[in-house]
Amino acid sequence: MLNPNLQTTQIAYSDDMINLAVGQPALSILPTEMMSQAAIAFAQQKNPEYLNYGKEEGDGHFRQALANFLTEQYGFPSALDEFFVTAGTSQSLMLICTLMTQPGDTILVEELTYFLALNLFKEHHLNAIPVSMDENGLDPDALEKILKQMGKPPTLLYIIPSYQNPTTVNLSNERRQKVVDLSQQYGFTVVSDDVYQMLGYEGETPTAIAKHIAGDSVISAGTFSKILAPGVRLGWIQAGPEILKKFRKSGLVASSGSLNHYMSGQIRLALEQGMQTAYLQELKQVLNHRLNLMDRTIQDHFPLETVSYTKPEGGYFFWLRLPEHIDTCVLRKEAVQRGLGFTAGPLCSPSGQHQNFMRLCFTFYTEDEVVDGVKRIGELLKEKV
Ligand SMILES: Cc1ncc(COP(=O)(O)O)c(C=O)c1O
Repeated sequence: MLNPNLQTTQIAYSDDMINLAVGQPALSILPTEMMSQAAIAFAQQKNPEYLNYGKEEGDGHFRQALANFLTEQYGFPSALDEFFVTAGTSQSLMLICTLMTQPGDTILVEELTYFLALNLFKEHHLNAIPVSMDENGLDPDALEKILKQMGKPPTLLYIIPSYQNPTTVNLSNERRQKVVDLSQQYGFTVVSDDVYQMLGYEGETPTAIAKHIAGDSVISAGTFSKILAPGVRLGWIQAGPEILKKFRKSGLVASSGSLNHYMSGQIRLALEQGMQTAYLQELKQVLNHRLNLMDRTIQDHFPLETVSYTKPEGGYFFWLRLPEHIDTCVLRKEAVQRGLGFTAGPLCSPSGQHQNFMRLCFTFYTEDEVVDGVKRIGELLKEKV
């Protein structure tokens, strides 16, 4: 029996539930060996600077190592002065809201977005207006139409342009440019949540939006959560000089210094010694394998005459369209009684729509559990169509 008071992780590991809503890496995927090597090497350096308050924007050596890593991963140059170190994208979003918005401000979000970001926006009393999407991501024409209708430009546009959560689609390069152009024309900031940018397994990954930061209308929020381990709580804001000034001057870092200083020292070492690059390469193979396994199981066990989806090329999820008459919020309750879980579409919809869609994550459970879970959700669906 699990004692909730002694639980370590956010999710309780329960043998009687396969909850494909969980968007976390499996424990077996996490790099315990690599982190142990990095921790030992880092601890042996006995560098007291990492035990003191860190520089407000983060350790320069870590930011240099990060810039080198992203230069290699993104395929265009990044420089250390483009970065502000945070404790992950959630904290980056929180800080962005704190420093760049006022309660009551209007922001734009994708119609289908990261549902936990919506909570964050609510906590800052922001009014989130959805912009429609299609198979190439956010629709820039719909965006422009909304901008024209608004008396005052929105403060921010929040997007997840690569291997989007939940839809898995990519915002095309052409549309990225259009969105950036609109942000400059209308005077709002694009906040790009790039947590899955480096998790492309097949096909071509669109160019990271960080390419557009020079105009000071784009913020890219990156993290080690999906490419390394969520528990390290280390991420970054990549932006132009005017935007970064606000972060460096924040009351939070004036008091606390760098937001995850000690861990940034350890990850600096993992970056400099090539451990992160090697792990990411290995991780992508493991995740691609799981993605293909989920795809094959869906193909074999879902009623595909009425269920449709596009096979994702990266990220963590599948996004499936079910027949119109199925309400996934209702279906989910039935699934839970059978020890199954998935994310119901409306949870990811700022307007509460997409009732006949579901999100399945392929990263958290073992391969056998993924197969078992998908098969049993397939059985449930067959009873409903
Ligand atoms: C789109 C998106 N943004 C942010 C996060 C959280 O990132 P972090 O762990 O860096 O706070 C997640 C995690 O699932 C996510 O899917």
